[in-house]
Amino acid sequence: MLQSPPELGDLGGGSDGNLDFSDILLDPLKNKFQESKCLNNLKFFVYKAFLIPDKKSRVCLTLISARVTILFINDERVLNAMTQAAINPTHSTAHSAATFTGLKCKECGTEYEAKAIHVCELCFGPLEVAYDYDRLRQIVTRETIQAGPNSIWRYRPFLPVTSQNPIDVGTGMTPLVQANRLARQLGIKRLFIKNDAVNMPTLSFKDRVVSVALTRARELGFTTVSCASTGNLANSTAAIAAHAGLDCCVFIPSDLETGKVVGTLIYGPTVMAVHGNYDQVNRLCSEVANSHGWGFVNINLRPYYSEGSKTLGFEVAEQLGWQLPDHIVAPLASGSLFTKIYKGFQEFVKVGLVDDKPVRFSGAQAEGCSPIAKAFRDNQDFITPVKPNTIAKSIAIGNPADGIYAVDIARKTNGNIESVNDTEIVDAIKLLAETEGIFTETAGGTTIAVLKKLVEAGKINPDETTVVYITGNGLKTQEAIQGSIGEPFTIEPKLDAFERALERSRTLGRLEWQQVMV
Ligand SMILES: Cc1ncc(COP(=O)(O)O)c(C=O)c1O
Ligand SMILES: [Zn+2]
Repeated sequence: MLQSPPELGDLGGGSDGNLDFSDILLDPLKNKFQESKCLNNLKFFVYKAFLIPDKKSRVCLTLISARVTILFINDERVLNAMTQAAINPTHSTAHSAATFTGLKCKECGTEYEAKAIHVCELCFGPLEVAYDYDRLRQIVTRETIQAGPNSIWRYRPFLPVTSQNPIDVGTGMTPLVQANRLARQLGIKRLFIKNDAVNMPTLSFKDRVVSVALTRARELGFTTVSCASTGNLANSTAAIAAHAGLDCCVFIPSDLETGKVVGTLIYGPTVMAVHGNYDQVNRLCSEVANSHGWGFVNINLRPYYSEGSKTLGFEVAEQLGWQLPDHIVAPLASGSLFTKIYKGFQEFVKVGLVDDKPVRFSGAQAEGCSPIAKAFRDNQDFITPVKPNTIAKSIAIGNPADGIYAVDIARKTNGNIESVNDTEIVDAIKLLAETEGIFTETAGGTTIAVLKKLVEAGKINPDETTVVYITGNGLKTQEAIQGSIGEPFTIEPKLDAFERALERSRTLGRLEWQQVMV
């Protein structure tokens, strides 16, 4: 019989061991026990923690040596600590309820335990999370997903965490908007925008990857989290670490836009602004990760972090009515997002949630940092690193870790990878804003500009259902468009001043207004 630790207080009624779970819990996951050792090394299984409305307390149902015990716990912090300890007893990874089986080298297939590692010891290939798809097929249906939270955590069985309490800050389930006005302007028929410019909490898709990485970081016992960032990742890591009560130190290049820097500092992390480009920041961070034992979301936690981007595939499939699109266009920095949208679609097919069909994958880079587009264009099987020089700083990675995998996907899906120059990027930011009312950052401008280029070149068929991924918010990169959008008319508070200004506005273009006196 469980000895209740003193801090749990009087836990209340233990059962007689004959409790029938199905009477109490109507939960699709009800057969999943989470084996653990904790609480004086007694082996027990946390079944489920849930709220009892009338008792205003939570019950934690456990199974100990084949006996059922019910613990009533009023203090949420105690419950959380207990559930965490149960799920993650020794910071090890074996877990009977986990749907993932460990890590696997993408190159040589060597398998590893699901620890904070990211590179294969044998061949230096990147490690990726592997899942038990038979098990996923058994436990996941469209209905179980739809009954889940309105966030990325509705896809929890497809994500590499064991926690029943993942860090949920409302990330995900962003709008999939049918973009008819933009489609008409471009000359295509069915265009959708997946709008992560309004993702929560920091207005970029990075909130997805960070929610997953920090949940896993907590499970692995990290108390300080960190990242090498081009801006958005630092925003997300700082914000979600603040929410989770984790210490945070982020590294960014020193020349980032004000919005990205302020949007990190506000959450109170330590911010290291490094004289150098992203690739130099990343190298420094690899050294810090080795020496400080911190959880770097995109270095030693990268296998878990990158899985978060699969939710951009899952959501689009679900929002299209459990169907895959014909063609997607997404931005490329390291290439990770692109490869994980692909993995997300494939997993939904594998588990039987959507029908299989060919989906073309096209990628977007800025000309001033386009090593992946170059490898694609030159038909190379390697990436030649470049020194970035573009206004699209968030996707300015000169030595992209997953670049070659992105090239491979574009090739095998009959897609393309294109680059566009900075003027085209600014024009595309304006085009998206003026046709669809969506203000995106430079990465989104790059993606829309590439979409336009592909349509004009006949590389997107007007009849294809095309989804374009907008991954960040324009309020964070205002420097990029200043001087390109005109100024407001400044007028005296008089009717005739307004009338004269209005007349001018009708006869002159917006950029000409500021050059004339009204
Ligand atoms: C807004 C935005 N979009 C896209 C990307 C590309 O991400 P990935 O490195 O996964 O290719 C980034 C990366 O930082 C980003 O900030
Ligand atoms: Zn390997």
